[in-house]
Amino acid sequence: MILDGQTKVYGIFGYPVKHSKSPTFQTAAFQHLGINAVYVPFEVNPESISQAVESLRVLKISGVNVTIPHKESVVPYVNELSDEVKVIKAANTIKNVDGYLIAYNTDWYGFVEGLKELEPTIEGKKVLVIGAGGSSRAIIYGLLKEGVDKIYLANRTVERAKKLLNEYLQHFKVVDKIIHPIPLADINEIVKEVDIIVNTTSVGLNDEDFPLFNYDFIEQRHTVVDIIYKETKLLKVAKEKGCKYQNGYPMLIHQGAKSFEIWTGQKAPIDVMKKSLSLHY
Ligand code: ATR
Repeated sequence: MILDGQTKVYGIFGYPVKHSKSPTFQTAAFQHLGINAVYVPFEVNPESISQAVESLRVLKISGVNVTIPHKESVVPYVNELSDEVKVIKAANTIKNVDGYLIAYNTDWYGFVEGLKELEPTIEGKKVLVIGAGGSSRAIIYGLLKEGVDKIYLANRTVERAKKLLNEYLQHFKVVDKIIHPIPLADINEIVKEVDIIVNTTSVGLNDEDFPLFNYDFIEQRHTVVDIIYKETKLLKVAKEKGCKYQNGYPMLIHQGAKSFEIWTGQKAPIDVMKKSLSLHY
């Protein structure tokens, strides 16, 4: 790679950002296509987020990804929100067009594309989504776009799941026929009704974490996704039962691929991006 005065700068805002895999696979994609650009990590303290967004204009940084904990807090500081950001209320991608900043959310797309690697037809499926935080909002947006039949939205704080439903009702008219908020305690009863199980919570990150429900109820016909970047207990059980299953990496790669396409207008080399990560974990 040769850097010169015309090298474009891309990056990621996060806190912490040390463990991000995005610089690795985005750089691999730029290099593969011969694009004169770099992609670097920016550790941004939460209290500095407005200045960090302004710095994109000042330093003419071409675009950034935005990760935890900034996905919601960047939204007030950009010039324009894409439609999905208006619904999800969180952005993971900013494009700088001559100082005019446009925010996008590609997490929902990343989730859908990742899931399609296991389950080519999502339309008409019944899905259990565990968690009602930021990741869940994006995933639900994707599932609704794909035309799922039902989403059982299980959350420790069931009020938060109801709030999500009420907000989505303002954008999708009859979504109360699709999304059903339930407490975690009800999961065991509804697992038999669903085709796809998705964990969006951090439960499972530590091996000693309590299971979210009784994993004995998982059947071979279930497709199981955990957006944590490892083989959690939930995924281990899915594997033992012979289910189709995946961790958070397919979603990560596909959200990044979409961001790449938004920035460059070129098709992302997905296989190159995937391969670059397998060298590192
Ligand atoms: P993210 O942006 O990653 O989705 P978040 O917005 O902080 O993160 O949401 C975290 C989700 O994990 C929430 O659904 C949270 O449940 P509450 O809404 O009840 O807080 C869920 N979560 C976190 N720790 C949990 C635990 N120990 N048991 C069950 N759910 C948990």
